[in-house]
Amino acid sequence: MKQSELVKLADNILVLIRKKPKQVFAISTLARKLKSESLDIYKAAKVLKTWGYGIKLSKSEITFNHTADTLSATEIDFYLKTKIIGQNLVSFHSVKSTNDIASQVAGDYPDESVVITSEKQTLGRGRLGRSWHSPEKVGAYISIIITPKISLEKAPGLSVMTALAAAETFEKYCPGKVKIKWPNDVSIAGRKAAGILTELYTKGSKTDYVIVGIGININQTAKDFPLSLRKIATSLRRVSGKKINRAELVALFLKHFEKEYKSYQKNQLAGSLKRVRLYSSLLNKTLTLKSGSDKITGRAVDIDKTGALIIETDGKKIAVSGGEVTVVKGT
Ligand code: BTN
Repeated sequence: MKQSELVKLADNILVLIRKKPKQVFAISTLARKLKSESLDIYKAAKVLKTWGYGIKLSKSEITFNHTADTLSATEIDFYLKTKIIGQNLVSFHSVKSTNDIASQVAGDYPDESVVITSEKQTLGRGRLGRSWHSPEKVGAYISIIITPKISLEKAPGLSVMTALAAAETFEKYCPGKVKIKWPNDVSIAGRKAAGILTELYTKGSKTDYVIVGIGININQTAKDFPLSLRKIATSLRRVSGKKINRAELVALFLKHFEKEYKSYQKNQLAGSLKRVRLYSSLLNKTLTLKSGSDKITGRAVDIDKTGALIIETDGKKIAVSGGEVTVVKGT
C-alpha cells in the first residue's frame, strides 16, 4: 500500500475509534468495515501513533487512549458543531499563507463551507504589509471563505464581527480578560492574542467573495515569540496557565463565527453591538487614527452597525472605517 493510501486509511480508522476511547476494536472488524487487509489496518494504526495519538496496538486489537496535538481536519471535525462554516475543512501541514490557498479555491465553493487551516505558515501575512509570525504546533492559522451580499462600504463590519467571534471564544479560556482592539485585533490581558486579515475580492461595486484570515496565538510560551513580539503579544496559554486543545478551540471559534455571521447577514452588526461595545478597548479613549496620509486625533465614542468607529473631534462626530490606531497614553 502506498504511503498516501496508508495516511488515508489511518484517518478513516481514526473516524471510527476516536469517539470511543478505551474501547477495544478487533483489527479484523475494522478491516471488514474499511474494506482493507488486517495487515494494512495494523500499519495504519502505527502511522496514527507517529502523529502523537495514544493508541494501544497488538496484532489483533486497537484501543484509542488519547488524542494528539494536531490541527488535522479529522481532529477539528470531531469537535465541530457548525451547520455550514467548516463543513468543507481542508487542513495543511505547511503553507505560505492560508489566505492565499483560500483565494485559489474561492470561486469553486459558493456555499460558504470552506475553511483552510495550517499547522504553520512560511509567509503568513498581516495587515499593512506586515508579516504574521506563524510557528508550528502552537497557533492556529485559519482562512474562511464567505460570499456576503454586501457593498464595499459595508465590509469593515466583517472584521469587527470576526473579532467578536474570537473574543467570545477566548472568553471561555481567559474569562474577563479579553478585549477587541478595533477593528482587527483581539487582546488578552492587554497584549495581542489574535489578528484578523480580511481580504475582499470584488466584481464591479459588489463583493464577489471575502477571505477572512485569522491567526490565533494559542499555546505559545514566551520563548516561542521573537524578542520583538514578546512584550506586545501573548497567547491563551500564557494568560490561562493551561495548555489548550487547539482543535477544540478552532471548532468553537467556527461555531461563534457562524452565529455572528448569520446575525451580520440580517442587519450587519445591529444584533451584536452591545457585546462589541462591551469588549472594545478603545471606547472613551483619546486616540490618533492614521489612514493613508490622513491623521485624526479625538475621542472614540462609539462603534456603529457598519463596524465604523465614531470619533469625536473638534465637537464633530466622524465615522471611520479603518486605519491604524494609537491610544494616547493616560486616557
Ligand atoms: C494582523 O494582525 O496584522 C493580521 C494577521 C492575520 C494573520 C492570519 S493567519 C491566517 C491568515 N493567513 C495569513 O497569511 N494571514 C492571516
